[in-house]
Amino acid sequence: AIGTTGTIGVVGAGYVGLTTAACLAHLGHDVVCVDTDRRKVAQLRGGAVPVREPGLDEIVHDGTRARRLSFTSDIEALAVCGVVMLCLPTPMDESGDPDTSAVDSVVRQLATLLPADAVVASKSTVPVGSAHRAERLLNRADVAVVSNPEFLREGHAVEDFLRPARIVIGASDAWACHLVERMYDGVDAPIVRTDPVSAELAKYACNAFLAVKLSYTNLLAALCERVGAEIGEVARVMALDDRIGASFLRPGPGWGGSCLPKDTVALLRTGRRAGLDFGLVRAAIDVNAQQLDRVVRDVRRAVTGEECGRIAGHRIGLLGLTFKAGTADLRDSPALAVADALAREGAVLTGYDPEVPSDRQRAVADIRLVDDPYQVAKGASAVVLLTEWPEFAELDWSVIGAAANNPVVVDTRGILDDSDVEQPGIDRIALGDGTHR
Ligand code: UGA
Repeated sequence: AIGTTGTIGVVGAGYVGLTTAACLAHLGHDVVCVDTDRRKVAQLRGGAVPVREPGLDEIVHDGTRARRLSFTSDIEALAVCGVVMLCLPTPMDESGDPDTSAVDSVVRQLATLLPADAVVASKSTVPVGSAHRAERLLNRADVAVVSNPEFLREGHAVEDFLRPARIVIGASDAWACHLVERMYDGVDAPIVRTDPVSAELAKYACNAFLAVKLSYTNLLAALCERVGAEIGEVARVMALDDRIGASFLRPGPGWGGSCLPKDTVALLRTGRRAGLDFGLVRAAIDVNAQQLDRVVRDVRRAVTGEECGRIAGHRIGLLGLTFKAGTADLRDSPALAVADALAREGAVLTGYDPEVPSDRQRAVADIRLVDDPYQVAKGASAVVLLTEWPEFAELDWSVIGAAANNPVVVDTRGILDDSDVEQPGIDRIALGDGTHR
């Protein structure tokens, strides 16, 4: 092992934990990854990687082959770890706050388990003040709790771990900060050394900022439709201003996934508890809900010619179901929210997603899943593009045109251009494009 970290313990083998464990092993550390899910541990021990992330299989296999990476469901394995990384989920509870019970329960067990002078580093997105709270729970003067938030995007987790925009270490003690820093030896990134509370808040600050930026973009897209502008053109101008930045300016059916929706609500509630009204973030959440309504209106218009038309009984094909391209994750997917709204109005839905094979039918009750994108067009009055999978841009739209009933394609991700649909004579409604309305 490198430096003084000894064996590093990683608690949680989800996409964050597994990526963290495998990447740390890749950097040369000895790592033990603990998860209470025995089936998952058995899978990992057998060489199967249950999380789909580009490049992850390879570094997990390299790590296990080199005996630097091991998996167990026995938390006692952490007794030899000088550093323990917490990579546990903090889902939203009914009140809207992050549910920290998984983190709390592990911290309580660590109190008696950890060796002397250990460091607990939290990668989970935890409420502001959690590091201090964990220190109180641990009640060990020799153990420090550090906030080391992750900024891994799903679908880019390995790349984001090994080439991050920054590494944030929020620590009260210099030695703890140093120890965590040593773990990242070999990663070329600016290091922000700060206090734990600022580090914890920074994580929420980033995700909520991205959400605000996206809602702003989506609202601008709606304005473009009304005034005859095109959001891609507007975004092109915005993107060239370094102060604005080029990313997160693509309109879509709304922002989803396991992070942005829960982290915006959490920041809102943190603000409220501190006596501050984060109306700006609330507005972003509201605009995101309205975005769903806008897409549904576009679909009604595609099917019936009117925004309020009745779509009951009509066949509608859905292309893309995951919350974004590059992941199999359906959690808080705007595509499923659109599907749900259409199903409630009585539409008959067929869906295709490259990462959602038809044997996952149970995951999407209202949609008949097919394994071929062209099948969604069969007899459809409209085809709705909901996830920006690159393969959708390569589809032969004349085949879709022939399979459907004079279909209108609703492109919520700006994937298609005129040349795709001109020949087959398909009508297109593109989100944020007022030049065609
Ligand atoms: C997000 C953050 O980007 C990561 O930095 C963070 O580490 C992660 O949450 C987390 O907290 O764990 P992720 O949930 O993987 O990552 O999703 P994003 O890539 O941020 O996309 C969020 C949503 O915005 C998706 O629904 C996506 O389709 C949408 N989006 C994104 C757009 O509609 N337009 C864009 O231009 C960009």
